[in-house]
Parts: sequence; structure tokens; C-alpha cells
Amino acid sequence: MRTIVMTGGTSGFGELAARQVLAAEDVRLLIGARGPAPTGAESIPVDLTSLESVRAFAESVSAQLGDAEIDALVLNAGVNGRDADERTPDGYETAFAVNHLAHYLLLRLLLPRLARGAVVVLTTSGTHDPAEGAMLPAPRHANAELLAHPELDPERDAAPRTAAGRAYASSKLCTILTVRALAAQPEATSKNLSVLAYDPGPTPGTGLLRNAPAAGRLVWRTCGPVLRRLVRRFTSKEAAGGTLAAIALGDVQPPDGRYYGAVRRDELTWREPSELARSDDARDALWRDSASLVGFSRPS
Ligand SMILES: NC(=O)c1ccc[n+]([C@@H]2O[C@H](COP(=O)([O-])OP(=O)(O)OC[C@H]3O[C@@H](n4cnc5c(N)ncnc54)[C@H](OP(=O)(O)O)[C@@H]3O)[C@@H](O)[C@H]2O)c1
Repeated sequence: MRTIVMTGGTSGFGELAARQVLAAEDVRLLIGARGPAPTGAESIPVDLTSLESVRAFAESVSAQLGDAEIDALVLNAGVNGRDADERTPDGYETAFAVNHLAHYLLLRLLLPRLARGAVVVLTTSGTHDPAEGAMLPAPRHANAELLAHPELDPERDAAPRTAAGRAYASSKLCTILTVRALAAQPEATSKNLSVLAYDPGPTPGTGLLRNAPAAGRLVWRTCGPVLRRLVRRFTSKEAAGGTLAAIALGDVQPPDGRYYGAVRRDELTWREPSELARSDDARDALWRDSASLVGFSRPS
């Protein structure tokens, strides 16, 4: 029996991934959810805007698992705000808090529960990389303090949508840096964990643009197949979800030395992330500063 723990398995392509995982033999799937989860999954409440809720979720997972270990941890939930002004109950910018900080905390809390050779996959986005030419503004840095409190950033964007786009792209840069930092932790190397960042590529038909203006939201939500005929690099929900499921089930593994998988034209490719995502200084600073933000007294 393989045990998989997942966030972001309740809608979008993550729901498709969850259903595909549930269709495999001998799999137990625990989903952190703020609404209904797919039938067959064990649903455990979590609201990733709250670090307290993340801690409670991790405790519930541990209690529910008993002696069982986690074979795959799939951290797929994500949000794209309408501006960078919204703050979580902990006082942090919402995209940074949900996409990065909540998952960072969850990783740290569940690390001791991971099986030897477990897969850890975090969903990132090509928007983290200026070379991708994405529609969102590229990250300028991965400074945790400034991303948590954009009002302190001397270079903060005045236009709300630009600020929201940059906050989202920056949070996804943090995801890749976190993958690299986790892979370098002694517990990850001693357990031989497979730690990956997964970029589904632009995938219309999901709820990700729920905070966008009504017209854009509607087109994104309902015109997936048409958009994909117009823009060939867009990914189908089926390919995005199916690839995530295959990674979670261990059916797909990265070539040696690769940790960043990106779907392009519905095919999984292995590539280098952006220059900033490959910075060891940024990686180490983010790991350390995120520890402070989630309340660990002695960051490691
Ligand atoms: N679609 C794209 O073009 C694209 C491209 C690159 C990367 N991504 C990333 O792919 C992942 C999935 O996105 P999607 O496009 O499938 O979007 P989606 O349909 O909006 O799905 C987002 C998932 O995250 C969950 N979630 C969001 N906020 C949460 C919170 N506070 N607490 C608990 N769960 C929360 C949602 O739960 P609910 O069901 O409760 O809303 C849902 O399951 C995200 O990380 C996104 O950033 C998407």
C-alpha cells in the first residue's frame, strides 16, 4: 500500500491528478482540503492561509497515519491574488503565504514521516523564469521578509495587478528554491528522497484566475480547448493532472541531476530553472528566513 498526502487535490488539474492516483491499485490518498475532496480520498481540513491550520493538518495526518509512512507528498495548492495587499491572519502577503510558506511549514513538519525513497513534489510555474516570457512580471528576488511584507519593498509595484503577478511569480521562485534546499538537507539525503519541482505549463480550464477580471476568468475557465488550439504551448488539464499523478505514483522519475520538470505541449521535459532559482545564496537565505516566519526558534 502506497500512502500519498496532497494539497490542491480538490479542483483544477490537481483534482484530475487525485482521481488518477485513486484509480491506481493499493493507494491511500490523504488530501488537505477546505472543501469536498474526490470520493475515495481521506479528506483532512486545511486552510493554507493559516499557519495554525497547517500545523493542525500535519498533526491530523500523523494521527491518521499511525505507523504508516508517507510515500509521496504532493504540494500542489496555489493561489493567484488580485493584488498584493491581502494579508493572511498571520500578517503575510497571501500568495507568498499560501504558495510558499504554508508548504514550507508542511514539509518541515511531515519530513520525519516520509518513507525512505519517498517522492516530494511541489508545483511551481514557468512564470518564475524571465526567460519564459510569461505574461506575468518576473520575480526580482526571493527575499522572504520583503515577499511576506511587500509594503517594505523599496521596488514594490504601484499597479495592483502587476504587484499580484509579481507576488505569484516570486512565490513560485520560492518553490524551486525550497525544492533545492530540501534536497540538500541531511534528512533528505539520508532518506534518499526524490524532491522535484513540477511546472504544468499554462493550463487553461482551472480556477487559478479566479481573482482575474470577469472576462479573463471566464475565457480561462471555459475556453480551454479553444485557447489550446490558438496557443500551442498551453497544456491540457488532462496532461497536467496525468503527469502530476505519474510523478506522485513514481511512474515517472527525473534523469540524474534533474529536479525541475516542466510540461510543454503536453509532454514532460526536464530543464534548468531560472538563474535566480539556481542561486545557492538565495536558496539558503530563503530556507533560513522562512523558518523564522513560521516560528521555528532555531532555524536549520
Ligand atoms: N493553471 C495554470 O496555468 C498553472 C500554471 C503553472 C502553475 N500552476 C499551479 O498549479 C497548481 C494548481 O493550480 P490550478 O491551475 O489547478 O488552480 P485551481 O483550480 O485554482 O486549484 C488550486 C488548488 O489549490 C487549492 N487551494 C488554494 N488556496 C487554498 C487554501 N487557502 N487552502 C487550501 N487549499 C487551497 C484549491 O482548493 P479549492 O478547491 O478549495 O479552491 C485547489 O485545490 C497551483 O499551485 C498553481 O499555482 C498552474
